[in-house]
Amino acid sequence: MARIIQITDLHVLQDPQALLKGVDVRYFLERVVEQLREQESACDALVITGDHTHDELEASYCYLRDLFAPWSDRLFQVPGNHDERRILRSVFSARIDGHHDELIQFHFETSGWFCLGLDTHDPGRVSGILTEQQVAAARRHADNSAAERIAVFCHHPPVLLESEWMDAIGLAGAEHLRSWCESDPRLQLVCCGHVHHESEHTCGHATILTTPSTGVQFSPLGAVPNFIPGQPGYRVLELTEQGYRTTVTRIDEVATPVL
Ligand SMILES: [Fe+2]
Repeated sequence: MARIIQITDLHVLQDPQALLKGVDVRYFLERVVEQLREQESACDALVITGDHTHDELEASYCYLRDLFAPWSDRLFQVPGNHDERRILRSVFSARIDGHHDELIQFHFETSGWFCLGLDTHDPGRVSGILTEQQVAAARRHADNSAAERIAVFCHHPPVLLESEWMDAIGLAGAEHLRSWCESDPRLQLVCCGHVHHESEHTCGHATILTTPSTGVQFSPLGAVPNFIPGQPGYRVLELTEQGYRTTVTRIDEVATPVL
């Protein structure tokens, strides 16, 4: 059994005192990390599915590199819309290969699962993008693996969430990932961030999951971004040769936005 932790949408700012929508994002992230240190120090992988920072500044990424040092040998990352590939890559150069603005993706195998990170960052946009070639390359990669199950990690969810405002900042090219979900019974999990709340949908053979932010929480209701009080958290995935189990775990404190 492999135990994978997914955290997402950290939105850290360079200034340690700065607030985001009235929420002290560093404070809540540090409470999440404290809980991870107590409960998940032995996890097999820690996956960050994007929006590492809110300001995309080097100092913000350096703060995160230090914070996640206990998992530095098991850290896997993809960028979100609030990320800068060059800086993310240079600060985490021990974990991220490639050059400059190339896609930041990852893959590893564990307990019969091929785990794959897809980069959906579209520079200058809140929405994301996946190209047909990118998904085809990922699929070829997975086909070369003997793993019987596939889990994809990416920032933007590839399905509509029945939310007027969230669906407006969705994923161009999502149909390429959806058609993979529909045609390949091995692809059973897609774990995403971006929408700062917990949800579960089905697409073909796959369950599409979204995970709460470590800071500011969103509601899917309404036509414009909807910030709500909520407990920051993360997702625990237990991957086995037979399937998977997953839960969202939250800290005890509520992050209350001030608008
Ligand atoms: Fe975000």
